Amino acid sequence: MKDYKYLLISAVLVFIFSACINKQGPVYQPSEAENERIIPKGEAIAMSLIKTLKGEVKQAIDSNGVVAAISVCNDKAIPLTSEIENISGKNISIKRTSFKFRNPVNEPDEFETAALNHFEKMIASGSPIPAHYTQKVVLNGDTSYYYYKPMKMEALCLLCHGTKETVPPSVQSILSELYPADKATGYEAGDFRGLIRVKMNEI
Ligand code: HEC
Repeated sequence: MKDYKYLLISAVLVFIFSACINKQGPVYQPSEAENERIIPKGEAIAMSLIKTLKGEVKQAIDSNGVVAAISVCNDKAIPLTSEIENISGKNISIKRTSFKFRNPVNEPDEFETAALNHFEKMIASGSPIPAHYTQKVVLNGDTSYYYYKPMKMEALCLLCHGTKETVPPSVQSILSELYPADKATGYEAGDFRGLIRVKMNEI
């Protein structure tokens, strides 16, 4: 009987202790003053990635067709992202992420999952897609600021991310070969696709 009592007390203590740890982070809502610096900086960097990628894909489709344009997304998206990181300043990291990812390197981590859930929750409640979301992450004493910009599907995107009606069979067969576990299809125009995540160590 005595043993049970100790067991129960230990279980309660462990529960309280872990609840306290969870409460302390490492993810916080940035203050208003921090958001005033995070939002314009993150937005400018995210926009510059969108412009570059969309421009390259459009140009490739116009000059050589959709099949040829797959290589822009497949080979060039990551180097183009690094290029924008380098010109955007020190310690900037940019990633595109989605619950329905095509390339497994874009799978969301725990912070990105929380951000994606925020957007999904808003959309499910019938609210318009929020313009952005921010986080302050403190890990091992290092602080980072995360800016998230949502991406919506447009007609252009549906050539490679849409349904059987919009993705040409020649494109589908290459995508299936390159990405056997592809989750990034079946979209319609206006759908929430995922997030551009800009991580900044200085704001
Ligand atoms: C020509 C085909 C093509 C078009 C058009 C296209 N994509 Fe993609 N997309 C891809 C490929 C291929 C990948 C995988 C890239 C990689 O391997 O890193 C990808 C990856 C992505 C990712 C990264 C997350 C993931 O699923 O891995 C996002 C976000 C994305 N596309 C959004 C868009 C949006 C928004 C548009 C329209 C503006 C668009 N795409 C148009 C082929 C395309």
